[in-house]
Amino acid sequence: MTENFIPERAVIREIIIENEQIRTFRLELLNKTHPFTFLPGQFLMLSVPHCGEAAISISSSPTALPLIDLSIRKAGELTTAIHAMKAAAQVGIRGPFGKPFPVASFSGRNLLVIAGGIGLAPLKGVIDYSLFQQELEEDSVQDMTLLYGSRTPSDIAFQEVITKWQAQGVDCRLTVDRAEEEWQGAVGLVTDLLEACPITEKTTALVCGPPIMIRFAIAHLSAMGCADEAIITTLERHMKCGMGICGHCHLDGRLVCVDGPVFSLAQLKGMEGAG
Ligand SMILES: Cc1cc2nc3c(=O)[nH]c(=O)nc-3n(C[C@H](O)[C@H](O)[C@H](O)COP(=O)(O)OP(=O)(O)OC[C@H]3O[C@@H](n4cnc5c(N)ncnc54)[C@H](O)[C@@H]3O)c2cc1C
Ligand code: FES
Repeated sequence: MTENFIPERAVIREIIIENEQIRTFRLELLNKTHPFTFLPGQFLMLSVPHCGEAAISISSSPTALPLIDLSIRKAGELTTAIHAMKAAAQVGIRGPFGKPFPVASFSGRNLLVIAGGIGLAPLKGVIDYSLFQQELEEDSVQDMTLLYGSRTPSDIAFQEVITKWQAQGVDCRLTVDRAEEEWQGAVGLVTDLLEACPITEKTTALVCGPPIMIRFAIAHLSAMGCADEAIITTLERHMKCGMGICGHCHLDGRLVCVDGPVFSLAQLKGMEGAG
């Protein structure tokens, strides 16, 4: 993209309804003259005229470019406005911003992906990217396990992609807080699923979801012997500029938009207010 403070127009090519609250918007930039690339874990500032901007993680892999997926939960004004949009409508995007997941260091590792609700969005790109590399037999992760928690079975998002990952060899384990009729899977917290997962020196754990889930998952991982450097999460802070100017995302001397949003537990331990 040109300058990171000027939004570029992107067209909505497709909308995938993930559940009642979450939709994935498949975008394509209209101006193709500027190269656009990113790595999993980075985010965009999404804008809709008269509704402002919000930080949204890119939920697809760079290997899917020129298509860019944003998986968006209806939360406030902007996200409600985009949920009302149809395919072929246009939005503004700036970015990519932030530090990505250290995907180059995942080679030969066992990836343990722990997510709750919309928290799977930034991790989805990591799984797709790693599967792509495995297919090419390039330096890639050894194996992947996904532990995914939702409130109820009808809240489970990304079902189509989870089924695809299962067929591609990802060990996907789902749990819900509250079962509904016909649900035959696990009921309980995502941390309960963790008990059955072996943690070795080859494990890298990626955690994203509601703050309370992140806190418990990290505590469990640490108690199970996972090293601080091998536990990686993302922080959510209210952002305005997304690029280190406004200071809205300030946290103990760091700017989450520039120094994060991806942090290892080793990094977080030195930061006050990060827990
Ligand atoms: C790096 C990053 C990545 C993200 N990725 C995604 C993603 O992939 N998908 C997704 O759906 N969301 C994502 N978010 C969250 C998203 O940016 C917010 O939910 C955003 O506020 C939605 O904008 P809105 O205008 O729809 O809602 P808002 O009007 O901003 O309201 C959303 C919620 O935030 C509260 N709020 C509003 N202003 C403030 C404030 N100043 N301080 C504290 N709370 C406030 C509101 O009360 C409401 O509960 C991400 C956030 C960050 C920082
Ligand atoms: S959002 Fe402006 S400095 Fe981070």
